[in-house]
Amino acid sequence: MCGIIGYAGKREDDSLEVLMNGLSGLEYRGYDSSGVAIANSTIEVFKREGHLSALEETLPARTVPGTVGIGHTRWSTHGEPSDRNAHPHTDCQDTVAVVHNGIIENFQSLRDDLAAAGHTFDSDTDTEVVPHLIEHELGNGASHTEAFRRAVDQLEGSYALAAVFEGDHTLYATRQESPLVVGLGEDGCYLASDVPAFIEYTDTVVYLEDGEFVQLDPSGMEVTDSQGNAVETTTDTIEWDPEDAGKSGYDHYMLKEIHEQPTAIRKCLRGRVQELEESVSIDSLSDVSEPGAVHFVACGTSYYAALYGARLFRERGIWAQAFLASEYDPGVIPVDDDTMVVGVTQSGETADTLSALRGANRAGVETIAVTNVVGSSAARACDHTLFIRAGPEIGVAATKTFASQQTALVLLSSALTGYDDPNLLRAFRKLPDQMQSILDRSRADAVAEAYRDADAYFVIGRGYTEPVAYEGALKMKEITYKHAEGFAAGELKHGPLALVTERTPVFALVSDNGMARKTIGNVKEVEARSAPVVAITDVPEMVDPYADFLLEVPKTHEWLMPILANVHLQLVAYSIANQLGRSIDMPRNLAKSVTVE
Ligand code: M6R
Repeated sequence: MCGIIGYAGKREDDSLEVLMNGLSGLEYRGYDSSGVAIANSTIEVFKREGHLSALEETLPARTVPGTVGIGHTRWSTHGEPSDRNAHPHTDCQDTVAVVHNGIIENFQSLRDDLAAAGHTFDSDTDTEVVPHLIEHELGNGASHTEAFRRAVDQLEGSYALAAVFEGDHTLYATRQESPLVVGLGEDGCYLASDVPAFIEYTDTVVYLEDGEFVQLDPSGMEVTDSQGNAVETTTDTIEWDPEDAGKSGYDHYMLKEIHEQPTAIRKCLRGRVQELEESVSIDSLSDVSEPGAVHFVACGTSYYAALYGARLFRERGIWAQAFLASEYDPGVIPVDDDTMVVGVTQSGETADTLSALRGANRAGVETIAVTNVVGSSAARACDHTLFIRAGPEIGVAATKTFASQQTALVLLSSALTGYDDPNLLRAFRKLPDQMQSILDRSRADAVAEAYRDADAYFVIGRGYTEPVAYEGALKMKEITYKHAEGFAAGELKHGPLALVTERTPVFALVSDNGMARKTIGNVKEVEARSAPVVAITDVPEMVDPYADFLLEVPKTHEWLMPILANVHLQLVAYSIANQLGRSIDMPRNLAKSVTVE
């Protein structure tokens, strides 16, 4: 789970700038070290442990000449974060530099063989075997193209790889279960793990497929398959504005993305809700019929969206369950002919989710990817796709994509079951403005000031708000670094209540869903233990007597209330983290896209 950028440009002087800009657009993928290599008559490598700012400090003031280069931002899998383990890695003679995303499973045996043949290694990484394998093949007389291919042929595992050679203006790359996309611009060609790396230079892209090799030079690209045959590629145009991938004046991407939620929801709904005809339709799913059962597979925030989605299907009379993707095994969990597996994944690159979806494909089950990224591995692995259209999300903490996932799952369940409640469709129309009103009147800073020094935070919800309780707690823990836990409100008294004290604020999601009284009963239980209560509610008059803070949610359809309520939790988590001075967009130990199992 790292970020790769590559550039084969027309001008000598801009490679370093393009690579550094690219890395800054990819830093969300990993940020424990980074590096760049530029090839000219020699290869110049700069790399450094820490955030990209640490690498910037090591760069020379001068321009580094060279039209072709690669860069990498790392999230460690083999070897601690350090200067020596940072990419790019080179061979013994420094004639080739390589960056890699993924895991080379057979690296130890390759390394042992190479060491026995006299190669010396400078790092603890699995990646470093690649430049040495290339060096070995060059020693056997192979051309750069052949040496790169032959080295890759010996690898087992998942990888996106890019290499540059001294004295060569061509960039060589390939992928296997790790994303790579080519950008075709006027000033040259780009290569990256994800589009934000080069969106400021071009919106014309080609997504590479597993097993394909690409060679980029300043005038264009050549794609071949694993046998070396030319491959005809499809060019896509990215519809984001480059500004979408910037901070637009906000202090953090996370805050910007929280504020983008009304727009994200509008985009998700556009063209899919026909209020007058009282129907929901999704073009990409027009040939999908109502399933007999639905298995959702997902991780983290997406799993909480999946819990919400499963409840929606169950309420419409279809048996549905959300599974943590890492625990899903269609060989063990019974699937019928009319079972459908839905992978919910913002990035479309989460290894656990992809593995579950591929397992479902092998079992012959119909699959749908609910994803944000066109051309992602999940989109390509599944029979059908439902794009959530949230736009690029850079902050590691998922925010707008969760809102868009929930919205998309309401649409999915409506479209597949023919459910057309006019109240729901009307409520959808108001949802973005209601969300905006929460953003405009947030009291999160005051809540954060009152409770930022708490020992822990608990979030309780019931019915449709239960998944949001888990998501709210996840947001809190990942960016504040404080313990937080979400519970089904009714479960509190079955054990967790022992943890509740005057130093553990409880955030209670109290929804007008016919169960408000029961949840208020749970609120009273924590209030009696002196815990501060922050009620997030669309029935403020009911919960007011028991709450220290009331964060109001406008009246909406019961299913949409959690989408609104979650905005309060996002803002409180953000404010606490901000007041505590945390690294909000890049929390410690985490990365946006988790491409290892
Ligand atoms: O890209 P995905 O939606 O598949 O990512 C799954 C999780 O890694 C992700 O939702 C993670 O939990 C969030 N970034 C946390 O905020």
